[in-house]
Amino acid sequence: MLEANKAAAAKFGIDTHFIEEKTDTQRNIEILGDDLTFISVREFQRTKHVHRLHPYLGKFIPQLVEVFLKRYFTQGDTVLDPFAGSGTALIEANVLGINSVGIELSPFNVLIQEVKAKKYNILEVEREIKDALKRLKVFSRRLQIKEKGQALLVDAVEKFETDSDYLKEWLSGRALQEILFYRSIIADYKNQDILKIILSRAARSARLVPHYDLARPKKPVRETYWCIKHKRYCTPIDEALKFIKRYSIMRKGGLTNEILRRGINFISL
Ligand SMILES: C[S@@+](CC[C@H](N)C(=O)[O-])C[C@H]1O[C@@H](n2cnc3c(N)ncnc32)[C@H](O)[C@@H]1O
Repeated sequence: MLEANKAAAAKFGIDTHFIEEKTDTQRNIEILGDDLTFISVREFQRTKHVHRLHPYLGKFIPQLVEVFLKRYFTQGDTVLDPFAGSGTALIEANVLGINSVGIELSPFNVLIQEVKAKKYNILEVEREIKDALKRLKVFSRRLQIKEKGQALLVDAVEKFETDSDYLKEWLSGRALQEILFYRSIIADYKNQDILKIILSRAARSARLVPHYDLARPKKPVRETYWCIKHKRYCTPIDEALKFIKRYSIMRKGGLTNEILRRGINFISL
């Protein structure tokens, strides 16, 4: 294993002897030109350009895919990924000028792939995202006024219902209403796929999970709790609005630079 990788692994307390026993990294380097453990590849590199679009546990890291694409394909070839997941291989192929076709069981993963790969009218996307956010802010304000008992001011605020036990269990009352409202307005826009990604990310972030257990939470937290990540008492998340706002903002540079440089529309949420 490369010395740099060993040093990076040591920082995380990873036993590289075990990895070396299991893998023939020297052979990988000879055949493929790279050490496939990629231990020293940092999080921001693993989620470069569109790969940060939406969390997804089963994705390949782009650097791994790149090694094989560069070794076995050239520009203009076509690669088939029969288990395409969130589309890392498909996108990395496109970046290298290789055509790609994917097959995937999960409709949600297909949505992620499509949003990563599709060309968009960026100005129109921006306008729609901002408009949806504005409407949500108005709804949320009215909802809170109503919750404070000033019902006369906001008689017309609609209460949304859902059959989903999961949403009812894992979201606070306010977050649930905001998520359901946002979902209800998506049909009003052309770029519904992008709004669905924003909605899904926000619903995930707004869950009543402790800060230290985002990936595999066991039960919702509704009371103040001792947070082992922040080393202080934290309060459960009460809203979805702040996350929808966060995921609605297109990062400067990331988006337009990539479009111009690669000729591909990348939405960097
Ligand atoms: C490890 S992920 C693939 C990662 C992906 N190749 C990439 O580049 O990031 C495996 C994917 O295979 C999908 N899958 C599993 N069985 C399948 C099947 N029979 N047909 C199509 N997709 C399947 C799963 O839904 C999952 O998203």
